[in-house]
Parts: sequence; C-alpha cells; structure tokens
Amino acid sequence: MSSASQTRVRIGVVGLGGATMQLLPSIVADERVVIAGVVDADERARRDFADDFAVPAHESVEALAADPGVDVVYLATPHALHADQAVAALAQGTHVLVEKPLSLTVADCLRVVEASRASGAHVVVGHTHAFDRPVRALRDLLDVGDLGEVAMITSCNYGSFLYRPRRPEELDTRLGGGIVFNQVPHQVDLVRLLGGGLVRSVRSSAFVLDPSRPTEGSHTTFLDFEGGAAASLVYSGYDRFDTDELTGWIDENGAPRRPDHGSASRALRALPSPADEPALKAARGYQRGWTPPIADGHQHPHFGLLLVSCERADVRVGPSGLQVYDIDGMRKVPVEPVAAVPDKTAVLDDLYRAVVLHEPSAHDAAWGAATVEVCEAIVASSRERREITLAHQVPLRRPAVPVPQDPAAQGA
Ligand SMILES: NC(=O)c1ccc[n+]([C@@H]2O[C@H](COP(=O)([O-])OP(=O)(O)OC[C@H]3O[C@@H](n4cnc5c(N)ncnc54)[C@H](O)[C@@H]3O)[C@@H](O)[C@H]2O)c1
Repeated sequence: MSSASQTRVRIGVVGLGGATMQLLPSIVADERVVIAGVVDADERARRDFADDFAVPAHESVEALAADPGVDVVYLATPHALHADQAVAALAQGTHVLVEKPLSLTVADCLRVVEASRASGAHVVVGHTHAFDRPVRALRDLLDVGDLGEVAMITSCNYGSFLYRPRRPEELDTRLGGGIVFNQVPHQVDLVRLLGGGLVRSVRSSAFVLDPSRPTEGSHTTFLDFEGGAAASLVYSGYDRFDTDELTGWIDENGAPRRPDHGSASRALRALPSPADEPALKAARGYQRGWTPPIADGHQHPHFGLLLVSCERADVRVGPSGLQVYDIDGMRKVPVEPVAAVPDKTAVLDDLYRAVVLHEPSAHDAAWGAATVEVCEAIVASSRERREITLAHQVPLRRPAVPVPQDPAAQGA
C-alpha cells in the first residue's frame, strides 16, 4: 500500500495464540484495517481462522508477505521467531507489526532495524501497555508543558503471570521465558515513553522464588534517564498480592474481575500431569466461530500502578483516565470510551499512520531494540550485581497530528 487512496490496511496474521486473541477484537472493530491472510504452525487453527475470515491460509511468512493482497504481516509467534520472520517480510517490502519483545537480543533486533531501513517498509512493535489510551493521554499532557519536567516514574505491578499456563520455553530465561522478556517490556516501554526514551543505565535485582518455575518471576529495577529523570519498576508474577486491588478490580485488559489470589497456582496444581500445561495454553488460542467479546463494564487496559511525578504535579494513570494532583487538589482527566475489549486500537493508529501516511511509529524497530537492551541489562545487572550502562537507546519520536478513526476523514 503506497497512498491514502487505499483506505484499509490489509493485515496477514502469523500466530493464532494468546496475543492474536487479544488484538483481534480491536482489528475487527476498526474500519481502517482488515484481516487478509493467515499462517500458523497448527493446521487446525489455521484452517478454522481462514474459513471464518474467508482469507487465504499460507504455508509460510514468506508466502504471506509475498501475497499482493497483504500490506502488513502481524507477527504473534514465540519471541525467538520474531527477528527472522520480520526480516523475511521486510525483505519483500511488506510492513511488520510485531509483538513484544522485538527479539531476544539487541543483535537480532538490529537485524530488523537494518532490514526496515533497507526496504523502506515500516515496523511497529506492539502491543505494549505504552499504547494504552490513558498512557497516551498522559504523554500528550506532558507535551503541553504545564506540569513541568518529569522527575520520577513509578511502575508497580503484581499478578499471576508465572502461573498462567505456559509453553516449556516460557519458563527458561535463555529462551525468553520468565517476566523479563514477557512482562517487563511493557514496563520499560511505558517508562521510556514517559521519560523520553533515553535510558542511561540500569540497576536491577530479579528473583527466582519458585524452583518448580525456574525463571525470573519478580524484579525491582532502577532506570536512570539521560535527561535526569528516574524510573523504578517493580513486578511480581507470583500470584499472591495483586495490584488490581488498587484499580477497583479492573484487570490488565480493562475487564471487571473478582479477587482470586492464588487461583492460577491452584489450577496448575490440579492438572493431572505437568505435561498437560502446554495443551491448556494452546486451548486459549483461536477457536472456530470466534466472535468479539461484548463490552460490559470494561475500562482501558492498564499495567498496575503507574505514577509520574513532575515539577508541578503528580499524575496517576488508571483504567478510567488520569488523576492529576497539585496545589489545587486532585482533578480527573477522562479519556475516550473503549473502542474494543480489550482496547488495543492505538496500535492500529500507529500502523495506519505508518502504512498510509508514511509516518514512522514511535515504537519502530530501533525503539523496540532499545527496550530489549534494557531487558538484557536487567538480567545482566541482577546476575552481576552492578549498574549497566546502555548504548542503543533512541529518543521518543512524537507524532505530528492526531489521526481520525474514520478513514473517510483522510480524504480517501
Ligand atoms: N501484547 C500483549 O499483551 C501480548 C500478549 C500475549 C503474548 N504476546 C506476545 O505474543 C507472542 C506470542 O505469544 P502467545 O502467548 O500468543 O503464544 P502462543 O503460544 O499462545 O501462540 C503462538 C502461536 O504461534 C504459532 N506458531 C508457532 N511457531 C510458528 C511458526 N514457525 N510459524 C507460524 N506460527 C507458529 C503457534 O501454533 C501458536 O498458535 C510472544 O512474543 C508474546 O510476548 C503479547
């Protein structure tokens, strides 16, 4: 796709697991995009999806990217495949939307950066919670300047991550398992978006607290930004305390829920055999006849407690919007209602801007590489018990103008 004359961005989906199931409601709710093809290693899922959406099923990423009816390849496959699959699509001039993390090493990420530069095709790395509408609203508020410079950013999230059903490699740090390459990229993206992008150094302690899940399940990390701001990140996936308690029991995807401390761990313990766990995870992938969930008290996705302290105010970001605290008291800054459940449409904003308006996303390949660099440094800092200085950080790129939801408004 080369101009705004073609209104709908045609997305080929690769990987029909949990990530796609979370993005699919936003894709089908958004007039600017349409599903145009599919690849999955699981023949049953691939066939069901292709039938339901009446799109071609392809045998490989290369074949999907070569399809003239596909503008963008959406990579929702295991992390270790992202770099090679992205490079394969970019080599054919096809744009890429790739789930976090961009890859598992900075070296691999830089291959994607180079492939994007060489082909001129765009990369958007997402979804991460930096795309959440309330977070974007705060970024816009910071840009206005009334709150002053950002000083401290606090991101704290406790939940059940480590005990949700996992593939074996998701419990092996060397293969991208544990929280550092799965959950921490959300936190790093969030604080880099709000802190300007350029992390100077990382000091972290990460913990393996359960020998039966032998990968990092929690961390506390200090990020020092070039401009002088600092961020503290805390995450625990051990299924005990849950920060949803602080958001009125609205879950990470914006859905109302009940307290259920320990239930994910108990469900795993109730399995007849640990060998049954991957099948439990696979059952959460695409199923024939899928329809999008209906909004019922849903709010925006969030990633636990997010507090930003600026020169003249503190701001708390929550699933219903922003709360600004200053000398005049507390005021609420609401954000627009959700457009899908979960609402991940801001990823599609960036995709549309990149593909149709030729405006690179702030979350491009270089940004994704910089986030992975922080994740790599978290592992190294924790193991070596020292501060790590970074070398591949990039500043935040800000969009020029807001993009309307209605493609007709583009004059297309
Ligand atoms: N943004 C988010 O909130 C979010 C949520 C979940 C997962 N993710 C990311 O999405 C990615 C996938 O995670 P998941 O939980 O969906 O995994 P998953 O195991 O649920 O799904 C992976 C899918 O990829 C398919 N697959 C595996 N190898 C393939 C290959 N060579 N070619 C084509 N298809 C192949 C599998 O059959 C499966 O359907 C990960 O990188 C993860 O970090 C992001």
